[in-house]
Amino acid sequence: MEEFFKIALELIEASEMHEKYRGEECINLIASEGIKSPAVREMLQLAMDLECRYAEGENNLDGHVKKRYYQGQKYITVIENCVTDLMKMLFKCNWADVRLVSGTHANLAAFKGLSMATKNRKMVVAPLSAGAHISHDYTGLAGMVLGLENIELAYDVNEMNIDPEKSAEIIRAAKPGIVTLGGSLFLFPHPVKELSEVAHEVGAYLVYDGAHVLGLIAGGEFQDPLREGADFITASTHKTFPGPQGGVILAENRDDRLEKAIKSVQYAIFPLSTSNTHLGRLPATGIAALELKIFGRELARQTVMNARAAGEYLYERGLKVLGEKHGFTRSHQLAVDVREHGGGGRVAEDLERANIILNRNILPYDDQSNRENPSGIRIGFQEVTRRGFTESDIKYLCDLMLDVIKGKRKPEEVRKDVIELRREHNEIKYGFRSVKEAIEYLQKSLKGA
Ligand SMILES: Cc1ncc(COP(=O)(O)O)c(C=O)c1O
Repeated sequence: MEEFFKIALELIEASEMHEKYRGEECINLIASEGIKSPAVREMLQLAMDLECRYAEGENNLDGHVKKRYYQGQKYITVIENCVTDLMKMLFKCNWADVRLVSGTHANLAAFKGLSMATKNRKMVVAPLSAGAHISHDYTGLAGMVLGLENIELAYDVNEMNIDPEKSAEIIRAAKPGIVTLGGSLFLFPHPVKELSEVAHEVGAYLVYDGAHVLGLIAGGEFQDPLREGADFITASTHKTFPGPQGGVILAENRDDRLEKAIKSVQYAIFPLSTSNTHLGRLPATGIAALELKIFGRELARQTVMNARAAGEYLYERGLKVLGEKHGFTRSHQLAVDVREHGGGGRVAEDLERANIILNRNILPYDDQSNRENPSGIRIGFQEVTRRGFTESDIKYLCDLMLDVIKGKRKPEEVRKDVIELRREHNEIKYGFRSVKEAIEYLQKSLKGA
């Protein structure tokens, strides 16, 4: 008993300390994370009963609830339908599913559904080292769980992008059921238009994994995959889309081909891969969608400007920032080759000692198995942008990083400056300070309309 209680105390303490450490004393630059506004956080707390409930069921082709298997659903159904509609309107499409609990789950349901619809187990996708997510890969969900056969797209390291011509040839030769674009190391828009035409020619569906860039798409600052020919977007709702941890799938149901695929993906969601859909996150996901509708353009623009400014600044000071040819990035991320400075693992650990949190990353020319100390680091600017960083703060942050990377100052010494810089940016911008503020904004706008 004593041991059990000690562990419980340790758990509570560690949870409190974590909130202070990562929430108040670190500058977070992990490209796959996101930060929530006070209104989104408040909405999460308001949804504690929902967090206790179940809502199994089936949806119709508008993405709305068609059938429920439990009682007590009258508001839950409204909530799920509202979030679905907000997502459809934000991303200008006529079908969405918000029952996915993560981006990986969204990929699971999309890949499973589409491989059933096409009766084809082949998927053409970028190599892991060129930015594909583990869930796309034969060593992860796609291969080991779903039994899909992976065929690799061609990647052009000079462009830091998928090579459209060579990849088109690969797709024509492989005749897959699915072509997946998008990824985790994702600097420049992928050739969706070119490859969706080829995918459709061979009877494949094009899935665009927008987990990283969903908020930028909403803000109109990245490519618009559905307009460029993608059949489905799969995504997380907690990276550049600043909501609670969750997932979503979006599509434009334009013809029988899409209708068949949507039905199959819906079946892959329920009953194949969900029971509880983590309902407590849904109202807050809707508030995040509202924030992007109102502030998304400005937020996305500043995020990309900050990433590009950092790329230029670090490059001018001697770091090997990739993608120089195209202004380093058009997304929220940078990729930097830090082999000269000890490699990605070493640099990420040194920066961690200075309370600057980012991750090591394999780069397109790395051996895929070298996960311990790959060549690169990946830096994401979505969280600092929401904390109000503009180019001058970004340059100062880069100076602090350079001090550590180049060994000019000890990380422990830099940490004091990092904590101070973090404390100067306590307010979360591009969002609502409370649910009340959101309601007042909506009421005022509706009155004026
Ligand atoms: C491209 C991509 N897809 C999917 C995922 C998985 O998302 P989740 O963590 O929500 O399962 C990630 C995670 O970072 C990702 O980078």
